[in-house]
Amino acid sequence: MREMDVAFVVGTRPHFVKFAALRAAMGPPGAGPGLRPRLIHTGQHYDESLSQRFFTEFGLGPPEVNISAGSGSHGVQTARMLVGLEEALGAMRPRCVVVFGDTNSTMAGALSAKKLGLPLLHVEAGLRNFDLRNAEELNRVIVDHISDALLCSTPSTLAHCRSEGLGGKATLVGDVTFDFFLAHRERMVRLAERSRAAGRAPGSYYVATVHRAEAAGSRARLESIFAGLGRLALPVLCPLHPRTRAALADLGVELPPNVRTLEPAGYFELGALIGDSRGVVTDSSGLQREAYFWRKPCVVVREHREWLETIESGWAAVVGWAGEGILPAMEAMVSSRPAEAGADFFGQGDAGAKIVREILKFAPGGAGAGLRTPGP
Ligand code: UD1
Repeated sequence: MREMDVAFVVGTRPHFVKFAALRAAMGPPGAGPGLRPRLIHTGQHYDESLSQRFFTEFGLGPPEVNISAGSGSHGVQTARMLVGLEEALGAMRPRCVVVFGDTNSTMAGALSAKKLGLPLLHVEAGLRNFDLRNAEELNRVIVDHISDALLCSTPSTLAHCRSEGLGGKATLVGDVTFDFFLAHRERMVRLAERSRAAGRAPGSYYVATVHRAEAAGSRARLESIFAGLGRLALPVLCPLHPRTRAALADLGVELPPNVRTLEPAGYFELGALIGDSRGVVTDSSGLQREAYFWRKPCVVVREHREWLETIESGWAAVVGWAGEGILPAMEAMVSSRPAEAGADFFGQGDAGAKIVREILKFAPGGAGAGLRTPGP
């Protein structure tokens, strides 16, 4: 049987995890359901610790194309991606294109696909914070509205699609990062056990990450968040995005004595850290989900409410950019173990398999095949 070419556009650290989860559901070449993945890396993340490390960790092999868009203003970065993606997708002419999440790479991949008349599937569709000043919100609204199939991780994200009139093309499939977590939990537990053997007691520290432009670009917010981390009664282990490391140094922000900065962590290493921690403080919506998977309390230091299920079940609390909220929110969650300890809002670990089924609808003769229109 001739395999169907499917282009996947990735570019940032979380995309590599999501692609790896989907890659596993596609099976080995020649033995799976008939898909041939063609991987395009925009190069939005390029440092070894944010990019190549994940390809190595997950045994992914190099992407077929790397556009090397690199960093820059949003306009410059997106423009470089659009030029490279048009060329790459135009040469490949895949049956359809899959994009993940809400980064600039996601938006560029989506726009390029549709300009070329290619069917587009959006994984992690329907997330909203209703603030179009936020770069990710703008990206995801654009991508959802131009996509041909919306693959939603949770009931609330499906509801957002429906309320915007997009319900006809939206499907609840579950979350691929939850698939990946379930598939690798044992490995991370073993890693954590090794750290215990080396003397680190479970529950004896917090994990914190800060990487968003809204925080890393502001001295007042960085100072406030780190002062807030300083009020926690345990050590705080803090893997740093290169941007945050640079900002702390440039702005001369002093770190409290209980905060220990680390290099950016790999997926398994970070999972093991979270799994044995007392709780998580973060501005990353990816980590907010990972904390929930491990059932660890998570204080979210930003103003937007996303992944509502983690908040409404009591496992995450959004406190804004001011660090004073961190300690009371964490103490409240640690002392009142949230009621809904067991709900799997993110599916049963089979989101990848369901997404593969949705992709196959774009095969010749499939329900979505008619969407393939000739490009300009
Ligand atoms: C991007 C996404 C964000 C996502 C995050 C995942 C957008 C608008 N933002 O944020 O939604 O949560 O990825 O981690 O798409 N830099 C390096 N090395 C790199 C890449 C970046 O040092 O390999 C530095 C550069 O100074 C760059 C800055 O980080 O200007 C920001 O990078 P950028 O790709 O714009 O956004 P992220 O903060 O990584």
